[in-house]
Amino acid sequence: MNVLLLGSGGREHALAWKIAASPMLTRLYAAPGNPGIARHADCVKLDLANHAVVAGFCREHRIDLVVVGPEAPLVAGIADDLRAAGIRVFGPSKAAARLEGSKSFTKELCAKYGIPTAAYGRFDNLQAARAYVKEKGAPIVVKADGLAAGKGVTVAMTEQEALAALDACFDGSFGAAGAEVVVEEFLTGEEASFFCLCDGATALPFGTAQDHKRVGDGDTGPNTGGMGAYSPAPVMTPEMVERTMREIVEPTMRGMAEMGAPFSGVLFAGLMITDTGPKLIEYNTRFGDPECQVLMMRLKDDLLVLMNAAADGQLAHISARWKDEAALTVVMAARGYPAAPEKGSVIQGVDEAAALEDVEIFHAGTAVNAGALVANGGRVLNVTAAGRTVAEAQRKAYEAVDMIDWPQGFCRRDIGWRAVEREKTEQPG
Ligand code: AMP
Ligand code: GLY
Repeated sequence: MNVLLLGSGGREHALAWKIAASPMLTRLYAAPGNPGIARHADCVKLDLANHAVVAGFCREHRIDLVVVGPEAPLVAGIADDLRAAGIRVFGPSKAAARLEGSKSFTKELCAKYGIPTAAYGRFDNLQAARAYVKEKGAPIVVKADGLAAGKGVTVAMTEQEALAALDACFDGSFGAAGAEVVVEEFLTGEEASFFCLCDGATALPFGTAQDHKRVGDGDTGPNTGGMGAYSPAPVMTPEMVERTMREIVEPTMRGMAEMGAPFSGVLFAGLMITDTGPKLIEYNTRFGDPECQVLMMRLKDDLLVLMNAAADGQLAHISARWKDEAALTVVMAARGYPAAPEKGSVIQGVDEAAALEDVEIFHAGTAVNAGALVANGGRVLNVTAAGRTVAEAQRKAYEAVDMIDWPQGFCRRDIGWRAVEREKTEQPG
C-alpha cells in the first residue's frame, strides 16, 4: 500500500522508520518530512492547510492511508475533508480532536461521565477567574483554553503567580486560545503518558511512557515540548492500566460515540497517578513527541496493520505486542531552546553514533545545507536506545550522544533518573 505521512518532527521520523519496516508498504511519502525521514520516504512539499491540495495529491499518487502526526491539521479538520474525498485516514475527526483542542470540552466530558480529573472552574472574564483563584488559594493551575503550543499552562505555586497568569490570558498573550480560561486543582503524584489506538468504538492499550518536560537536569527550568522519555512507565502497573482503561478511556470512548463524535486514531492520556488512583490531566489526540520514539522502538508488531485496523474499525480483533525491553530517548536541542534556539550550526558524527547496536537516531529539527547536516529547530535530534533495563538503555543512549560532534547543541544528562533510581532499589541484595 501507499502511505502519506504528515509532519516533520522526531515523532514522524519514528513513525516513518516503523512504517517503512512493514511488508505491506509499497511507497511512503512524507509532507513535509525532514532529512531523517527522507531515508524512508519521498518528502514532498504540500500546503497542509489546503485540504483540497492534500486530497488531490492522494488521488494522484494512489494513497491508501494518510497518517497524521501533529495535532494542528486534526483540529483544523483534515481527517474529515480527506474522508469526505474517499481517502482513508489514521487520525480523529475535527469533532473528536476537541479532546485536545479544547480543555473545557474535555472537562465537561469528564464531569458528565464521572471521569477522574482535577476539580476546576471555567471563566470567560478576568474578575470571576480572579475571585476563584482567591477563594481556592495556591498551588493552583491556570490554563488557556485551546491550543497554545504548550505555553498556555501555568502551574502557580503562589496566588500572585496565578493572578499574573490570568492577566496574561485575558490580555491576549495567547490569542484566541486565551479567551476562555480553565483554573484547576493542583494534583500531586507521579505523571505518566498512556496511549491507546482507537477505532471509534474500541480502544486498544498501546504503551506507556514518561517524559521530562523541563529543560534542565533535575527537572528544573522552563517547560519544553519534552527533553526525553522512556518506556514503559514503571507507575503504570497492569492494575493501573486496567483502572485507567475502565475509569478514564472507556467512558471517554462511550461519551464521544454518544455525542456523534466517535474517536479514532491515537488517544494520549496525560495522567497523574495520585494516592487515590489515576486522574486525567489532559488528552492529546496524537502520539507524544518524544514518547512516540520510545514506543516505536519497543513495538514488535507491524504498525501499518494496527493503523489499518484503527482506520477500518477492526481493533476489537487485534492486539499489540511489545518487546520485553525498555527504551529511552535523549533530546538534543539547539542552544537557546526553548526561548530562542540558534539555527544553522553543523552537526557531525550522527551516522557513526546511529551505527551503535540498539541505537536509533531520529531527526526532529534538522536540515541539509551545502551537504552538511545542520540544526533547524529547537529540538533537533532524538538519540534513542533499547536495553534490558532503563539504566542500560540510558547508558547506550548517552554513549551515542557522546559520539555526536555538535558544540552548539545540548541535552539533559539525567533522562530516566526516576526509573533508574527505582530499578536500583528493586534489585535484590
Ligand atoms: P499540559 O500542557 O496540560 O500538558 O500541562 C503541562 C504540565 O503542567 C503537565 O505535564 C503537568 O506537569 C502540569 N500540570 C497540568 N495540570 C496540572 C494539575 N492539575 N496539577 C498538577 N500539575 C499539572
Ligand atoms: N511530549 C509531550 C507531548 O507530545 O505533548
